[in-house]
Amino acid sequence: MTAHPMDEFPVRKFRFDFDAAEPETAVWSQSSELFSLFANAFTLHVPYFEKYLVRSMIAARGKITDEKLKRDVDAIIGQEAHHADAFIKFNDLLKRRYPKAQAMEEHAKYGFKDRLKKDDFKTLVGFTAGYETFTFLAGMLFLDNYDEWMADSDPKVKALWVWHQVEEVEHAAVAFDVYKHFFADDENFRRRMVLSAFWHIVSETFKAYLHMCKVEGWFSNPIRAARAMGFITRVVSQMIWNARPVMRSGYHPRNHPLATTEQNPIAVSWRRFHKEGGDVLEIDHAKMKAILEG
Ligand SMILES: [Fe+2]
Ligand SMILES: [Fe+2]
Repeated sequence: MTAHPMDEFPVRKFRFDFDAAEPETAVWSQSSELFSLFANAFTLHVPYFEKYLVRSMIAARGKITDEKLKRDVDAIIGQEAHHADAFIKFNDLLKRRYPKAQAMEEHAKYGFKDRLKKDDFKTLVGFTAGYETFTFLAGMLFLDNYDEWMADSDPKVKALWVWHQVEEVEHAAVAFDVYKHFFADDENFRRRMVLSAFWHIVSETFKAYLHMCKVEGWFSNPIRAARAMGFITRVVSQMIWNARPVMRSGYHPRNHPLATTEQNPIAVSWRRFHKEGGDVLEIDHAKMKAILEG
């Protein structure tokens, strides 16, 4: 039986480098150009949430009495700190392609810094748990649609996303457990934070996606424009559908059906391949075949 992805997850240190990438690489997936832009639009603000998460988990760590939870908190801090560094580097590539990307990234950066000053402890850990709901669900969604969205794509950018999405699933329960550790009885506040985080993700992503589609010239053709709007609507609707269990009392990320009965084969194989020393910094067709065949 395959181990649960959230058990004893490690911190992996990778250095991705996009300095030499041409600005055109921003549309990095030939399998789905629309997915490239959706993922790009998402990542413009996400590393600043990841920095917020690191601060949130550091604030919680000193007050946690459970040793297993402390271990997991250390590991999520390690994973997310590496994610933030890698995606900020990737954003430099986006800034070379999209004129408004710099301003949008700064808006996210200062927005989260501002939140850190204002949010009380409960909001800090609640909002973090709410946000992690969707990075987890996006993790599953991206990997489950690998063939349609990423199979034929830039090997480095693909490698970045596969790594990120695998780890989002691995640490999906930690922020939730931290919230529950302190505020187990307040399910309504948790649900409110899920909705608040969802709105934040959708509004930030939508704004960046519109800009990127416009720069790529997709809005000058009505059919392409309709396809672009259809794609983002489909992805967001799927996230809402997959989030249904999250709003129930008694929900726990470990028991989300997508993380258990339908464990993604790429995630399972990628973890094993990396553990055995395989290089996962670039994933072309041959490398993915090697990963899956193990
Ligand atoms: Fe992350
Ligand atoms: Fe995360």
